[in-house]
Amino acid sequence: MYCSPRLLAVAALALRLTRSSALNVSVPISSPSGSQTLARTLLSFSIEQDRWPDWSGIDSRNEFTYSALTTLATLTGEPPKIRVGADSEDHTFWSPTVTVNEDEFPPANTITPYPEATHITVGNAYYELSRFLPRGTHMTWGINLGADNVTNAVNMAKAIVRAFRTSTVKASGVVLDLLEVGNEADLYRNNGLRPSNWTVQDYVPDWISIAGPAVAAAGISGPDGPVSVQGAAFAGQGFTPTGIFNLGILDSAPGKAITQISQHRYSAAFCNGGDFPLTSFMSKQFVRGNLTVFNADIAETHSRGLTYVLGETNSIACHGAPGVSNTAGAALWTIDYTLQAATLGIKELFFHEGVGYKYDFFQPVTLNRSTIDGSPLDPPSAPHIQPSFYGALVVNSFVGTTGASTIVELDVGDADVSGYAVFEGTAVKRAVFVNLHAWLASSTGTRPSVHIDLDFASGPGASQSQVDAFWGRRASLRRLAIGHADDTAGLTWAGQSYENSANVAPTGGLVTETVQASEGFSISSTEAVLVEFL
Ligand SMILES: *[C@@H]1O[C@H](CO)[C@@H](O)[C@H](O)[C@H]1NC(C)=O
Ligand SMILES: *[C@@H]1O[C@H](CO)[C@@H](O)[C@H](O)[C@H]1NC(C)=O
Ligand SMILES: *[C@@H]1O[C@H](CO)[C@@H](O)[C@H](O)[C@H]1NC(C)=O
Ligand SMILES: *[C@@H]1O[C@H](CO)[C@@H](O)[C@H](O)[C@H]1NC(C)=O
Ligand SMILES: *[C@@H]1O[C@H](CO)[C@@H](O)[C@H](O)[C@H]1NC(C)=O
Repeated sequence: MYCSPRLLAVAALALRLTRSSALNVSVPISSPSGSQTLARTLLSFSIEQDRWPDWSGIDSRNEFTYSALTTLATLTGEPPKIRVGADSEDHTFWSPTVTVNEDEFPPANTITPYPEATHITVGNAYYELSRFLPRGTHMTWGINLGADNVTNAVNMAKAIVRAFRTSTVKASGVVLDLLEVGNEADLYRNNGLRPSNWTVQDYVPDWISIAGPAVAAAGISGPDGPVSVQGAAFAGQGFTPTGIFNLGILDSAPGKAITQISQHRYSAAFCNGGDFPLTSFMSKQFVRGNLTVFNADIAETHSRGLTYVLGETNSIACHGAPGVSNTAGAALWTIDYTLQAATLGIKELFFHEGVGYKYDFFQPVTLNRSTIDGSPLDPPSAPHIQPSFYGALVVNSFVGTTGASTIVELDVGDADVSGYAVFEGTAVKRAVFVNLHAWLASSTGTRPSVHIDLDFASGPGASQSQVDAFWGRRASLRRLAIGHADDTAGLTWAGQSYENSANVAPTGGLVTETVQASEGFSISSTEAVLVEFL
């Protein structure tokens, strides 16, 4: 007797329903309308300007940074983009007499063990360290708007473009894409860089007065590159891209060179400490809530022909919160947050990093103080990755190497499980599922899991026979395995650890599982599964 694979699947499902919960997820086999293009640099990084030389290396490249970025680059065929800027961008001054940099740091405390420098003086060599990044890295560099000093902004702009014209930087294949003039200017009225009555109506002419001479000094005369301008870079919703468009910023000389709009997002703030439940980050609802606030600005930005990025983002502002930002749960948050953003038309997310920050994907240098409470570390801790790095491995494996893949979110009828599919050409290639249900060190009983049943559906241009053929196909599974959501180490991706080598190389044997696509698979609480259709 002939039994169709689909019939067998239904029979298998009937058996399974009696022992564990199951989710029926429809996967279109060809890309539906509304799918969004995935940049290979979807997951990129922002680096706090004060300690940039620690990340890059000074006399020679920082091998750990180089290895971590190269490991991610291998998965997509392109290194993550790097923006150097953030708060210290508005406290940086160029000097002809400084070689690399001289930083003034405030004292550390338990909430902020690695505070940002309050004053940074840099010389030409500082920017030339860009050559130590992996070949093919594209960069955005920040220029000081906070000081309201045209001379300094012009000096910084000239030093940046001069660095990228040196033979060593040219030979490195690292490319300057964008200049950003001012970081989070909407906060200047709160942090003393402008009077408290300073408004967005004041911002636009102020930005033009500084960006105009800086952009001209950099030899930028319009949007056609090779170097252009990143606009906005606001922290909150007080100033918006739509607001500055309506105030005519794009008609100004420097505004005509804007090709990309950046907004920043953190889901909470640890500036004064506090207790944040990890479970609120392992939440489909809150991930979506934090991102959909940008929908109107994304649409407005796209309607002007500009690209839209989250130019600085991470879990919790002011360097992250212990027990959340540095945990395995944050790795799952990273996957859902990044891919959800992609479905909304956000081209790239620049995850903010600084030496000793709790939310870092990796720590690039030896640390002598705890990132959690500032207590002395004896012995010091060598450069290492943090759990979020595994989230980046999953995202980049999902994105793939074509540079032309597209994404849709899958309708998973469960409050804790999210799913996305990726298409190459028009054919579905992979899907990823994230089970955000938190399995904590304090959890007891049996760890819950759900069974995912894939139900293939035709998309545009796919015939029923192609759909039927999918039922007979196999799929290869790779799991991001996590002990507990609150673990800060010990994760594995496809059976391998990335924590036990000095160069972020995987250790241990690769573990993949091959299943019949029609049979589906189980996913535990606090786990991600990447499905590759064979
Ligand atoms: C799964 O969904 C499909 C339609 O998308 C439906 O035909 C099928 O019966 C569903 N299976 C179960 C077990 O709910
Ligand atoms: C502006 O910057 C220049 C160059 O760094 C410096 O010489 C000058 O003192 C600054 N002006 C003010 C008002 O701080
Ligand atoms: C804003 O405050 C400054 C003093 O800090 C004052 O000189 C200025 O007139 C104020 N502007 C407005 C529009 O109120
Ligand atoms: C953003 O995420 C945080 C942390 O999960 C949550 O507390 C907050 O409510 C979310 N905000 C929105 C607008 O959903
Ligand atoms: C830790 O101490 C070593 C040795 O004193 C020093 O070289 C290194 O810069 C320190 N690390 C940080 C992040 O300050």
